[in-house]
Amino acid sequence: MKHVVLVTGGAGFIGSHTCKALYQSGYLPVVLDSLVTGYESFVKWGPLIKADISDAHAVKNLIAQYKPVATVHFAAFINVGESVTNPEKYYANNVVKSLQFFEILRQCELNKIVFSSTAAVYGNPALNPILETAVLNPINPYGVGKYCIERILQDFDKAYDFRFAALRYFNAAGSDPDQEVGEAHVPETHLIPLVLDAVLGKRPFVTVYGQNYPTSDGTCVRDYIHVADLASAHVKALEHLLQGNPSFQANLGTGKGYSVLEVIDAVQRVTQKKVPMQTGPRREGDPSHLVADSTFVQNLLGWTPRLSDLDTLVAHAWQWRKQERGVR
Ligand SMILES: NC(=O)c1ccc[n+]([C@@H]2O[C@H](COP(=O)([O-])OP(=O)(O)OC[C@H]3O[C@@H](n4cnc5c(N)ncnc54)[C@H](O)[C@@H]3O)[C@@H](O)[C@H]2O)c1
Repeated sequence: MKHVVLVTGGAGFIGSHTCKALYQSGYLPVVLDSLVTGYESFVKWGPLIKADISDAHAVKNLIAQYKPVATVHFAAFINVGESVTNPEKYYANNVVKSLQFFEILRQCELNKIVFSSTAAVYGNPALNPILETAVLNPINPYGVGKYCIERILQDFDKAYDFRFAALRYFNAAGSDPDQEVGEAHVPETHLIPLVLDAVLGKRPFVTVYGQNYPTSDGTCVRDYIHVADLASAHVKALEHLLQGNPSFQANLGTGKGYSVLEVIDAVQRVTQKKVPMQTGPRREGDPSHLVADSTFVQNLLGWTPRLSDLDTLVAHAWQWRKQERGVR
């Protein structure tokens, strides 16, 4: 019989790709998702329990019925800008409900969890590429919330024998190479889908915020990681915990940064179309560089990104964006 993994947020972008990777690795992913931003049609590799993570009755029933061996926790709100204008929404959903959820897991003795953290826990780092040992200094409520959850997990580890892997993703992008699921955030705030929408005429242009950063072409540099590579890292992290290894925090990135203009060039190369763009002022709180040093996780888990070169990642995102399959 397949081992069951409880996946919160499995109807979302990264969660659905991870469910596919879990299924392909021999696990049955059971998705717990309220569909507040996710899609029922993205749940293809196991059952969906439509409920909030803080719904103790639903979570306990799920655990009693399916007997999962571990949890992967994606469920969260993810819009950094909205977290600044509406912090209560972010602390309530991402922090308070996560704490309630962890307590239910603890009561049910389901004590191994892989958690979606983020590069936003570093804030504006002094050095790039960023090591896990860098100072954690988040600069918006979204990042502070993720930092709080990491701290909660550390305290649960010490007090309750609760083992976790906190995976700090850099910029998740791309889509399933088979196009079974893809990125469909509403509203979309991520660069690559926004540039593709400009190519498709779904928006008049893409805005490049800030042209005078200390980077090779003056635009911000980010580390883009293919969602399928993120998914495979989750499977490895889960298996590491299941083997009885200690908790850890790890960056998930490629170690290579691309500027906004380099991403736009890649989109033009892949689509063979001109990207309509305009320039805008810097956005407050945007660091010039955010690039991961992922040596630690590569050594720990034997994981390497395989699909994250920029043109492959853009090509997969482009195929998905053109078709818009599978959405609501
Ligand atoms: N997308 C990125 O680039 C990125 C980068 C770093 C970290 N992350 C983290 O990865 C995780 C997944 O991100 P995503 O891009 O797949 O987001 P997403 O919005 O596509 O998926 C989130 C899912 O969680 C569900 N959800 C939210 N709150 C819930 C609740 N209280 N109860 C039950 N379900 C709930 C939503 O319905 C949705 O299906 C998030 O925790 C996010 O913070 C994402």
